[in-house]
Amino acid sequence: MSSLLVHDISTLLTMDTAQGVGGLGERTDAALVVEDGRVAWIGDTASAPSCDVRHSAAGMVVMPGLVDCHTHLAWAGSRADEFRARLNGENYTDILKRGGGILSTVRATREASAPDLTDLVEARLRAALGRGVTTLEVKSGYGLSAEHELKQLRAAKAAAARVGVRIFTTFLGAHTVPAEFRADRPAYVDDVINNQLPAVLNDADFIDAYVDDGAFTVAEGRRILSAGASLGLGVRVHAEQVTKTGAARMAASLGALSADHLERIDAEDAAALAAAGTVAVLLPGAMLYLGDAPPPVPLLRSAGVKIAVATDTNPGSSPFPDLWAAATLAVLTMGLTVEEALLGITANAATALGRPDLGRIQVGCPADILLVRPPAGEPPGAGQLVQHFGAPSLALTLIGGASF
Ligand code: NIG
Ligand code: FE
Repeated sequence: MSSLLVHDISTLLTMDTAQGVGGLGERTDAALVVEDGRVAWIGDTASAPSCDVRHSAAGMVVMPGLVDCHTHLAWAGSRADEFRARLNGENYTDILKRGGGILSTVRATREASAPDLTDLVEARLRAALGRGVTTLEVKSGYGLSAEHELKQLRAAKAAAARVGVRIFTTFLGAHTVPAEFRADRPAYVDDVINNQLPAVLNDADFIDAYVDDGAFTVAEGRRILSAGASLGLGVRVHAEQVTKTGAARMAASLGALSADHLERIDAEDAAALAAAGTVAVLLPGAMLYLGDAPPPVPLLRSAGVKIAVATDTNPGSSPFPDLWAAATLAVLTMGLTVEEALLGITANAATALGRPDLGRIQVGCPADILLVRPPAGEPPGAGQLVQHFGAPSLALTLIGGASF
């Protein structure tokens, strides 16, 4: 495989705090070499080795490919009517309890054929890649039966293979109780554990549960997540979003990779997450669309919890696909710093997926790299990328050294 030299990099953000300066591992007038799909060398342009192919990044920011660590991309159907209902004052949980919301997407996703669902996911993944997202997590949770959960996970994997992005899949059979089990919740929990989980095991990296009013209790969530963990799946939890349930502490007690949403955590929750090394995944899209208050970021910060930011892309609570915009909103509405937001969509998001070798530019790590043009007229700095809303223009995107 030929070697690639990226040289004259105006600003290199390695996201590796052990190198460069500042919280983003920043270097100026830098260069890097990509060989065999990995970063082989990082240094100054003046001392760069010769390579087969050269690419100038003069006037640009070079940084890791973005990592969207919480999405629900594998859905069919539309919830535009529900959006209007919420604008007219109806609330998210009440819509779910009357059989709409997540349940409406379950009906549409069950009806979709596997090829049609794969095409829908492919379109969404292509759009994400166009914005520089090179790794995504995709959850199931709109099938709620062994057959349809598996259909979702396989559609996500097939679509990712077509597009070329890295994908991690999460089994979310515990998203809500489907209509056919409404009269017998324990039977649905049994179905998730005894039927769905074995069926999806080879197609899922992680297991997740939505622990909230209208979804699952902490006890139900713990049973389901423990069953997944005992079969080797990493744990993630939709926790403390709409109501305060104790889900964050439950996530910590299970050693979860991430606890997501967290609008309603307290100081003890933050301490438990920090002690467990569980990453807090903040989702400004859902917060904005549901008109919620921000999570208490100062508690997370002072406890030393790693913070990631994701889109939560889904047709209901967060029809919001732009991870760059999520970073900006996390700064504007949740009080994150520019550095926290950029780490949140790169290195910390990768840590939340159990892959600390992604989301960083480090020798030996996969070469998932963006050459970013700053907004017109701006110097190539980290601050500008977060200040200006939405995805910037990309000169080159590399995934494992291959260009897109
Ligand atoms: O992360 N909160 C529950 N699950 C999703 C919403 C999915 C939906 O509304 O379809 C979330 O916000
Ligand atoms: Fe979600």
